[in-house]
Amino acid sequence: MKFLVTGGAGYIGSTVVSALEDAGHQAVILDSLVTGRIEFTRGKIFYLGDIADRKILTQIFADHPDIFAVLHCAALIVVPESVEKPYEYYRENVAKSNEMFHILYTLGCQRIVFSSSAAIYDKAENFMVTEDSPLAPNSPYSRTKYMMEMILQDTSNAYNMRGIALRYFNPIGADPKMRSGMHVKEPSHVLGKLVDTALGKQDAFTVTGTNWPTRDGSGIRDYIHVWDLAQAHVKSLAEFDQVFERTGDPNINFIPINLGSGKGVTVFELVNAFERVYGKKINIRTAPPRPGDVAGAYANADRAKKLLGWETQLSIEDGIRTALEWGKIRESILHWD
Ligand SMILES: NC(=O)c1ccc[n+]([C@@H]2O[C@H](COP(=O)([O-])OP(=O)(O)OC[C@H]3O[C@@H](n4cnc5c(N)ncnc54)[C@H](O)[C@@H]3O)[C@@H](O)[C@H]2O)c1
Repeated sequence: MKFLVTGGAGYIGSTVVSALEDAGHQAVILDSLVTGRIEFTRGKIFYLGDIADRKILTQIFADHPDIFAVLHCAALIVVPESVEKPYEYYRENVAKSNEMFHILYTLGCQRIVFSSSAAIYDKAENFMVTEDSPLAPNSPYSRTKYMMEMILQDTSNAYNMRGIALRYFNPIGADPKMRSGMHVKEPSHVLGKLVDTALGKQDAFTVTGTNWPTRDGSGIRDYIHVWDLAQAHVKSLAEFDQVFERTGDPNINFIPINLGSGKGVTVFELVNAFERVYGKKINIRTAPPRPGDVAGAYANADRAKKLLGWETQLSIEDGIRTALEWGKIRESILHWD
């Protein structure tokens, strides 16, 4: 089967493209390379352009009339930047997705899978969230994800389309075959920072917030291996119609699905796991929480199991191992200016 992947030159999109290809499918990438990497598009069907560009989308569907569904990964994703540049985030993520969904409708494409985020959930007392838990996105970035979900839901209802919003928890790791991984030069994610500390690029790893009401005071997250995440996308795309059939309700046009392991891991536990895999101790500092930090949450992943027949297979150690491996080789693959 053939799928269009917007943002297919990014960390998650490129991994999904590899997983689709490994499963015998074809992927067509649309990416502006605003943050993505041309290196991840080599040997792929790749269109350089913007998601809201009607001309390029029309061209893609003329060239590939057999595209079955679209995966919409393209977005700006940096939370602090979204606080400084809300105009850009609402334009790039919200306004352009709205435009793209409508262009897809006019081109006859009725199936959309959307990269959403667990960052849209409100704080949960026991840290576990289901898809029906209250939403309260707390940054411009997460509000763009929340709005894009609402737009996809309304678009699906009004234009006889269907949408699946995959709410990612905390992706870690790299493609096990090392075709792609995290590409930002200075990673802001916790595991990227641990890898940088291990590789001597920073002198210590800072645990921000040690007084949260968790079992050891550090924040709690649900780390999901990016390769597991990619497999959930393969299922959502290739079994798109069956996912809706499995709900048993023919009136449903929009389904949010949590993608997480279902296990909460604290930052200190992550550091311990990292040290086990790395085989050495890491320099640790502690600091107060940064503005906007939250205690965190983990997924109730029952819906993914029921509707996608999917659950995570890989461990947090697998994620750490592939992140370390990727950290060592990525400079030979990615060429920064
Ligand atoms: N990485 C995470 O931790 C995480 C967590 C939850 C959700 N998500 C979501 O997953 C998706 C992918 O994230 P990622 O980590 O791979 O980020 P990324 O920055 O690596 O990838 C995003 C890609 O989208 C492209 N892009 C952005 N705006 C575009 C536009 N207007 N037109 C065409 N291409 C455009 C970029 O060039 C890039 O290749 C995003 O939608 C993000 O919100 C990511």
